[in-house]
Amino acid sequence: MEENQANIVVFPFMAQGHIIPFLALALHLESKLRRLPNLTITFLNTPLNIAKLRSSLPPSAALRLVELPFCPSDHGLPPDAENTDALPYPLVARLLHASTSLRGPFRDLLLGLVAGGRKPLCVIADIFFGWTATVCRELGVFHAVFSGASGFGLACYYSLWVNLPHRKKPDSVEFSLPDFQEGSPVHVSQLPLTILEADGTDPWSLFQAPNLSAWADSNGILFNTMAEFDGVGLSYFRRKLGVEVWAVGPVLLSSKCRRSTTPSSPEQCIAWLDEKPPKSVLYVSFGSMNTITAPHMMELATALESSGRDFIWVVRPPVGQDINAKFDSGAWLPEGFKRRTAGRGLLVERWAPQAEILAHGAVGAFLTHCGWNSVLEALSNGVPLLGWPMAAEQFFNARLLEGDGVGACLEVARGRSGEVRADALREKIETVMGETERGRGMRRRAREAREVIQTAMRDDDAATRGSSVRALDEFIGAAMSRRAESRNGLKIPNGHASIPGEHISTTA
Ligand SMILES: *[C@@H]1O[C@H](CO)[C@@H](O)[C@H](O)[C@H]1NC(C)=O
Ligand SMILES: *[C@@H]1O[C@H](CO)[C@@H](O)[C@H](O)[C@H]1NC(C)=O
Repeated sequence: MEENQANIVVFPFMAQGHIIPFLALALHLESKLRRLPNLTITFLNTPLNIAKLRSSLPPSAALRLVELPFCPSDHGLPPDAENTDALPYPLVARLLHASTSLRGPFRDLLLGLVAGGRKPLCVIADIFFGWTATVCRELGVFHAVFSGASGFGLACYYSLWVNLPHRKKPDSVEFSLPDFQEGSPVHVSQLPLTILEADGTDPWSLFQAPNLSAWADSNGILFNTMAEFDGVGLSYFRRKLGVEVWAVGPVLLSSKCRRSTTPSSPEQCIAWLDEKPPKSVLYVSFGSMNTITAPHMMELATALESSGRDFIWVVRPPVGQDINAKFDSGAWLPEGFKRRTAGRGLLVERWAPQAEILAHGAVGAFLTHCGWNSVLEALSNGVPLLGWPMAAEQFFNARLLEGDGVGACLEVARGRSGEVRADALREKIETVMGETERGRGMRRRAREAREVIQTAMRDDDAATRGSSVRALDEFIGAAMSRRAESRNGLKIPNGHASIPGEHISTTA
């Protein structure tokens, strides 16, 4: 019966920054794999996250949303804390640890599928769910990790966690990565807070060390990136873990789908941009999880004002405030800022239709936290970047983008510490947007990046299929040949042969 089915199980960590790229991947798989008979894509998550997706997703024939039981209060979390969005920073590590309680339900679900003759073709799971690789290996199910981060960024992040090099040289400001020379040196200002504070005995280290190492049990890693730019990071994982690596990106949520998962409507921003000359507007956004400090916000406002450039700025309350609270421009921006920049500056609270903005011809550059999804949206539209990385692997994304390989980014600041001066910011805005040699070079490189992406995603005819399309085919091919090899080979342990029915529900 199995050969008539293609069931792909996808399983992101419980954070919007993970769920959105997995959703994009699931919909991409659905559209690319139509030729597979009886394709189903089972999207696993905890009940509240599934409920939120069910109420916002457009109907899809192949996608099934399935709940795994999870009780936040069993783990000392608030009762509705099933997503990092609902949590203050110190509790994120607790959610991470709590998420390993999904191991039993996940294993039972796979056993139920196997027993029902519906063994998954593959499981694609989060970078934080290394334990899923161990479960899949035990049950003979093909497994891949999916990274929404760049290969280079994730390689630096992985190497930092498994080596903690800053702990071995506590007085230095620079460290080399013993197993990733290509990513060395790393400066202390590029360490995400969790790694900076890690000493091997803290909650993050205790989670990361064994769980990142468990990737060695996986069959490979799918990256939302392009092999043409990101080969160095991809080869780190081949070398380090001896697994396959497939660069299948960029995989992005269509704006139609994204809009239905977000509150406001894009019309205002787009109408505003329609009035502006080509390539004249600077778009500023630090993503939905980050904000800058109050003093940095003042400097940025002063820089935007004195630059004389048009801008759209997605504003959120500064560090120390509730990031989702109402924005108080009287308190956090220079006095009279809004009045003086009226007409040429548009402040948008919390959320803007980013994909549509970056696709608009009036946008000339993007000041970004270098979250990989934002980067992919910008490069897909040939928009050059001003980088202000904030957290996680964003510091290393900025380095990849600034380096010779891409050459479409200028880093302007790092994180929350360090000095940021308005005049230096203004100068860098001018470098990228103005008629400078560097600016012209960056704009050319950003256009070239767009071409590389279009070529990587070409799928019109077999002879010219792009690298990302071929990589996805190779991934599915590897999963299918594994299934062919292992058919009839798996013994099912007794007593686990049913799906826990009360937790299953589908979109259909
Ligand atoms: C889909 O699955 C059913 C049940 O296993 C099977 O009878 C049917 O042939 C499959 N369809 C295709 C196109 O293989
Ligand atoms: C992942 O981390 C948890 C700590 O929360 C640990 O109990 C578990 O064994 C780790 N998983 C693997 C595969 O080592």
